[in-house]
Amino acid sequence: MMKVLGVDIGGTKIRFGIVDEKGKVYVDERVETTFPLYELLEHHVMRLIESYPEIEAIGIGTAGFVDAKNGKIIYMSETLPGWTGTEVKKQLEKATNLRVEVENDANCAALAEAKFGSGRGYERMVCLTLGTGLGGGIIIDDEILSGGPNGGTGEIGHMILYPNGQKCSCGRNGCYEQYVSGTAIQRRIKEAGLELSPFELFPKASEDPQAAKVVKEFTFDLAVIISTLQAALDMDAVIIGGGVSESASYWMDDLMNQVKPLLLNDLDIELASFGNEAGILGAALLVLPE
Ligand code: BGC
Ligand code: NA
Ligand code: ZN
Repeated sequence: MMKVLGVDIGGTKIRFGIVDEKGKVYVDERVETTFPLYELLEHHVMRLIESYPEIEAIGIGTAGFVDAKNGKIIYMSETLPGWTGTEVKKQLEKATNLRVEVENDANCAALAEAKFGSGRGYERMVCLTLGTGLGGGIIIDDEILSGGPNGGTGEIGHMILYPNGQKCSCGRNGCYEQYVSGTAIQRRIKEAGLELSPFELFPKASEDPQAAKVVKEFTFDLAVIISTLQAALDMDAVIIGGGVSESASYWMDDLMNQVKPLLLNDLDIELASFGNEAGILGAALLVLPE
């Protein structure tokens, strides 16, 4: 059975997984994201393909606006300094002599959920990853809706919710990412005068009115985001993943109550099956046979 290397490049860590055609993950390694990023990536890829000669191809998911056809980073904010303009596919194919494909990280996560996870059986779905940033991936008939002149299709995190709102890494104000990502929840907690991690916040909401207020504001914003996406895309399902989704048992009912009056029609809202593993799985799918 074919085995490939799936790589997930995020703002805080890079994850490497060896994955087979059935989506089974054999090796799963994490390293901290440091710079220069391309050199770090190449170093670990070379090390892994030497240790595991069964790797036949490499799929890479990365934060940023990606030209998936050419495997090039069109734009990435200062969260990954120096990444904009990097010819990842070209350079890594030369270094490894293996086929390399590159896509946006959230597009990869969405693909993994569509093929192996909560998105199975849905024709049209959007996956939101609530982590360091807010990622978005749109899947229609098991294919990523990708591309655009700026590689920006599905960059849902940079749609604007509050035009005079929080400064975003993209240079504008009030992007979705600044309200419902893990980082945004951290900010909300601090502004409420609380000293909690996001994981501590959600269970606390049943007893602490300040914590409850933070959760309500988060679920309200997420509800508005989902209804806006639904109006634009008319999906069968929205799948919610990323670190914040791990606490969903505490906020899902709240979200459902808030989103109901905002929707024009029925929409399934589901939690992702894979958590952060979706990134390496989806990246691997870029180079695995259909
Ligand atoms: C980036 C996206 C990425 C998301 C999740 C956003 O800030 O613009 O490209 O998918 O973070 O990593
Ligand atoms: Na995306
Ligand atoms: Zn933005």
